[in-house]
Amino acid sequence: MAVEALVTPAAGPLDPEEIRKDFPILSTLTSRGRPLVYLDSASSSQKPQAVIDAVTEFNTTYNANVHRGIYEIGERSTAAYEAARKSVARFINAPDHHEVIFTRNATEAINLVAYSWGRRNIRRGDAIVLTEMEHHANLVPWQLLVQEQDGDLEFIPITDDGVLRLEVFEVLLKLRPKLVAFTHVSNTLGTINPVVEMTRMAHEAGALVLVDGAQAVPHVPVDVQAIGCDFYAFSGHKMLAPTGSGALWARRELLEAMPPFLAGGEMIREVHLRRSEWNSIPWKFEAGTPAIAEEIGMGVAAEYLMALGMDRVQAHERALLDYALPRLQAAHPDVALYGPMDTSIRGGVIPFNIPGVHPHDVAQVLDRVGVAVRAGHHCTMPLHERLDLPATARASFNVYSTRSDVDALVDGITEVKRVFGIQA
Ligand SMILES: Cc1ncc(COP(=O)(O)O)c(C=O)c1O
Repeated sequence: MAVEALVTPAAGPLDPEEIRKDFPILSTLTSRGRPLVYLDSASSSQKPQAVIDAVTEFNTTYNANVHRGIYEIGERSTAAYEAARKSVARFINAPDHHEVIFTRNATEAINLVAYSWGRRNIRRGDAIVLTEMEHHANLVPWQLLVQEQDGDLEFIPITDDGVLRLEVFEVLLKLRPKLVAFTHVSNTLGTINPVVEMTRMAHEAGALVLVDGAQAVPHVPVDVQAIGCDFYAFSGHKMLAPTGSGALWARRELLEAMPPFLAGGEMIREVHLRRSEWNSIPWKFEAGTPAIAEEIGMGVAAEYLMALGMDRVQAHERALLDYALPRLQAAHPDVALYGPMDTSIRGGVIPFNIPGVHPHDVAQVLDRVGVAVRAGHHCTMPLHERLDLPATARASFNVYSTRSDVDALVDGITEVKRVFGIQA
C-alpha cells in the first residue's frame, strides 16, 4: 500500500487519533487490562503498519543478500535496500544519496567518525568541543579517541534551564578545535540547539561539525545542507523504523578521504593476499551483510514521516508540550520540571521528579496504570551531575501522542502521590 494512503492529508494540523490507527501496538492492552499509554518514544518509537509490512514482505517474499545475487529476489533485495538509502537521503535533504551510510544506530554512526576520521585527524594537543548535555553515545567515543591520541575535550556549559551558553562556546573556539560535536535535540531536556548558528561559528574557527540527530529526525525538519554541518548521525528506531537501522550522513570529500571503519566483505573492490582496494562510498563503510530488512523499513519510515510533513510533526508535538507543561504545573505544582520552558526551543520531552519519590518508583507506579515512562539518567550522567540530580523520570512524545496521554500522566502522578502518601 502507498505510504501516502496511510496518513492524513498534508494540510492543516496532524490528527493524532487518525495516525494512531497506523500503529497496531497502540490499541493493545497492558497485562493489567489498561490501554497502553506510551510516553517513552525518546527511548524508542513505535512502528506504523507500513514499516511492519515492509519488513514482513521482505522476509516472506524476497529475502536475499544485497549486491550479490544474480537472480530475481537478490536483485529485488538490492533495489529495495538502495531505494531506502534514497528515501533516507531525501528525508534529511542530503545532496547525494551516496553520502548516506547505513549503520546499526546513531552510536555506531558516531563511532565510525571517531575511529575513521578521528584517528587520522586528531593529534596530540588537539581539542574537540562537546556539550554538557550529550548522550553517552556522543561523549564516550570522543573520550576514547582523545585518550589514545593525547587530545583534549572541552565542554560548552548549559544554563540551569538547559540551554547552551554560546558566549562560552565562542571563547572555547579560540582554542581552534578540530571538531565540534553536539546534539541537535537533547534526549533528556528536549532543548533544540541552534545548530545552524553553532555550525557557522565552528566553521569560522576552522573546526568540522558533527551533529547527533538521534532525537531530531523524528521530531523536527532536518536539512543537512541548510545546517551546513559535516557529519549527521541518527538512529532508525526512534523515527518509527525497526531497531538495527540507522545512518550517518557526511560530505563526500570527507568520506572519500576517510579510511574504512570495519573491514571484510562488501567494503572492498579487490582483495589480494597482502593488500586490498576499497569499494566506493557508501559501501566502503558497510562491511558485511547489512540489516537489510531493517534499513528497508527505515526507508518506509522516512517516506511515512515525509508524507505527514515534518513541519506538521513539529507543530503537533509543540502544541502537545504547550498543553502538557501548564497542565502538569497546575495539577502538580510540587513536581519539579526540567528543561527550557520556552517551547519554541524545545522538543516533546518532559523530565520530572516528584519530591520524596525515586524516579524508578514513579515509573513503577505509572506502569501499574498503563503509563510507560523512562526513569534513570537516560544515558546523560554528566548532565544529571551538572543539574545535581541522581535521576529523573521522563515522558516523551511522538507523532501518535495525544492530550489524553498527557491527562493519563497527570492522573498517574496523582496515583503515585496517593501510593506514597504525599498530600495533593
Ligand atoms: C541524543 C541521542 N544520541 C544518541 C543516542 C543513541 O542512540 P542509539 O542507542 O540508537 O544508538 C540516543 C539514544 O537515546 C540519543 O537520545
